[in-house]
Amino acid sequence: MKKTVLAFSRLSPALIERLQPHVELVVPSPKLGDIATQFAEALPRAHGLIGAGRPLGEAQLHNAERLEVISSISVGYDNYDVDYLTRRGILLTNTPDVLTESTADLAFALLLGTARRVAELDAWTKAGNWKRTVEADLFGCDVHGKTLGIVGLGNIGSAIARRGRFGFGMRVLYAGNSRKPALEQELGAEYRSLDELLGEADFVCLVVPLSAQTRQLIGRRELALMKPSAILVNISRGAVVDEAALIEALQEQRIRGAGLDVYEKEPLAESPLFALPQAVTLPHVGSATHETRQAMAFRAADNLLAALAGERPRDLVNPQAWRQS
Ligand code: DGY
Repeated sequence: MKKTVLAFSRLSPALIERLQPHVELVVPSPKLGDIATQFAEALPRAHGLIGAGRPLGEAQLHNAERLEVISSISVGYDNYDVDYLTRRGILLTNTPDVLTESTADLAFALLLGTARRVAELDAWTKAGNWKRTVEADLFGCDVHGKTLGIVGLGNIGSAIARRGRFGFGMRVLYAGNSRKPALEQELGAEYRSLDELLGEADFVCLVVPLSAQTRQLIGRRELALMKPSAILVNISRGAVVDEAALIEALQEQRIRGAGLDVYEKEPLAESPLFALPQAVTLPHVGSATHETRQAMAFRAADNLLAALAGERPRDLVNPQAWRQS
């Protein structure tokens, strides 16, 4: 008999087609009534869950008695209570690697867009304001040749650093838990403490996973260390930054700008950020290209199907659960 898999977010038609021959797939749909009710009804018989963007821990899963695996269609896994899943022997998988380059592209889009005021000038032009040559009040700042500070030089961080170093001739600084000699060699990257990096970089790019250690990593004190001409780019998780402190720093023009893809509370329905032209606000789209989202979905399907077949999935977040299961 096929095992049951329950979706906890919308799945693309291609992913549904990939899974359907192998499992009994339940995809809650508004067409069939209340989504939460459909999810709650199917959960006790689900062997696998697949999706993204939903917190899952004891409160949501206590009666998921058959659950063997959660396959997250994301690289970040801060939405899941990993300790709880591990205690229960439930495998958790994610989708690393396939989104690295797209997410690095988006970080650079934010960096360039904020420095060159792309969204602001686009709105200004479309509002019919272009009557004569643009003057200094609408100038941006250079990106090439400047200093790029990467907080978290992992896969995505180093992909951003490569763009900066080789595409824009930038000097690269990085802060993180450990030195990366190979990347220092490849990129000429220089290691700094976080405080030193904040004081030196023209662009500070946050690329750390959210954890107890990185929650509110950038607060009032850290923002005060940044140069008034510097720009903060956050593509990691909103909670890495104290958003109220960031808004205050932008309102008081203590930093030049911020390029943001993530927020403390998502979706961001209203925010003082919306009134700040020097803040570029994107709706958490780091990996949102057709190609990358498809690759993530298929990687998640491979992980899910492997786990349900009793094989060790490629992207296992909690290997301790594997030993128990
Ligand atoms: C991830 O995969 O964690 C990214 O934030 C995209 O959702």
